[in-house]
Amino acid sequence: AKTLYFSRHGESEYNMLGRIGGDADLSPRGRLYAQALSRYFTDKVRVPGLRVFVSEKKRTQQTAAGLPAAYQVLPALNELDAGVCEGLTYEEMQEKYPQEFAWRDRDKLRYRYPWGESYVDICRRLEHVLLDLEHSNNVLVVAHQAVLRCMLGYFLNKDGAELPYLNVPLHTVIKLTSEGFNYRMEMVRLNV
Ligand code: F6P
Repeated sequence: AKTLYFSRHGESEYNMLGRIGGDADLSPRGRLYAQALSRYFTDKVRVPGLRVFVSEKKRTQQTAAGLPAAYQVLPALNELDAGVCEGLTYEEMQEKYPQEFAWRDRDKLRYRYPWGESYVDICRRLEHVLLDLEHSNNVLVVAHQAVLRCMLGYFLNKDGAELPYLNVPLHTVIKLTSEGFNYRMEMVRLNV
């Protein structure tokens, strides 16, 4: 059986403020998660030949820094580009761009932020990474909420409309193990 691991970055300063996108540093709690994650991969599970993929954002690299394997930066793993809404809270978006906010609510899968991306756009740029992962074993992907929703949706055969609502909590290692053509999912919450 093949095993793939996924994790969001630890809590960032922007997560604490409820701000969208950006390139913030980890919060103190997020840094604790980075430590817990490296302990998990050194003490709890010893993954032979572990490979680690991160995005270009500081928060994923800071999360992966202590792992027992060097990370590889994949721009395809960057979080959903929220265009003109980068750095806003959802409340600020609703105030500044009420029409956009309503449109997003109506079709979250296809909605594309002005000068930004949609979930469908992410799925498209992830294609080569997903094809590669399908033939990989013992990989840890440290990425972002929307990106991981698309990746898990792919491996778990979710309908497109469900993707933007999949539950991908912070501070949790998501383990996928292949079973024939399918994958079994396990969520391991690391307490920080
Ligand atoms: O809030 C964190 C975050 O990763 C944002 O950067 C991103 O825009 C958002 O989550 C994606 O979640 P949703 O599609 O539910 O807004």
